[in-house]
Amino acid sequence: MKLLFIGDVVGSPGRNMLKEYLKKLQSKYRPDVTIVNGENAAAGKGITEKVYHEIKEAGANVITLGNHSWDKKEIFEFIDDKHDMIRPGNFPEGNPGTGITYKQVGSQTIAVISLQGRTFMPPIDCPFRKADELIAEASEKTKHILVDFHAEATSEKQAMGWYLDGRASAVVGTHTHVQTADNRILPEGTGFITDVGMTGPYDGILGVDKEAVIHKFLTNLPTRFEVTKGREQLNGVFISLNKQTGNAESIKRIVINDDQPFFD
Ligand SMILES: [Fe+2]
Ligand SMILES: [Fe+2]
Repeated sequence: MKLLFIGDVVGSPGRNMLKEYLKKLQSKYRPDVTIVNGENAAAGKGITEKVYHEIKEAGANVITLGNHSWDKKEIFEFIDDKHDMIRPGNFPEGNPGTGITYKQVGSQTIAVISLQGRTFMPPIDCPFRKADELIAEASEKTKHILVDFHAEATSEKQAMGWYLDGRASAVVGTHTHVQTADNRILPEGTGFITDVGMTGPYDGILGVDKEAVIHKFLTNLPTRFEVTKGREQLNGVFISLNKQTGNAESIKRIVINDDQPFFD
């Protein structure tokens, strides 16, 4: 089982990069399932139905979300109809949507789980206990389980990787928009990376116009953040899982930008 995971798609620059490179990456790596984090895909905050379809047409099989899940209110109208789009599973009782989805690949199944951290983030339900619950559910159906852990603190993300080592096939971090170089396979077989990075503007700050962010740091005045234009980047990981055990056999970082161009 081969998985391609693309980090937080930010606005139209992120969607452009998906349209330009996702099919090329799929021809190069031949993933069975492509997962895209789309929490910033509509103008940097949230997702609309139109953008959902754009990401699917670009080649995504599953879309994961995060702390920006509810930023575009129209999501409440369609999230319950889209079984291939998930929000963090540890959002409190009463939130629409779900934190787990399954994708059939031939005779095999992959479970994709979304969870969100709590360190420097809203105080939602415990992601670790929710992970126990969702992995127990997924394990009844499959050994192939990918967790997108959407969290701020590197410590909380590493803790989740170690907590799920041997129980999840891979734990990949999202949310910080900066790819970390710590991709590895943990001793019990879980593929791990603290953060996959983002897909969108290359010359902004986490995808946002840099002048606005600098202004905010200099003055602490209320500042409007907009997705910046110009050069673009794509960040992701490619993960191979053992067919029998579900353990990760490799986890490779994917970086496309003007400094590290794509070669097929
Ligand atoms: Fe994000
Ligand atoms: Fe986020």
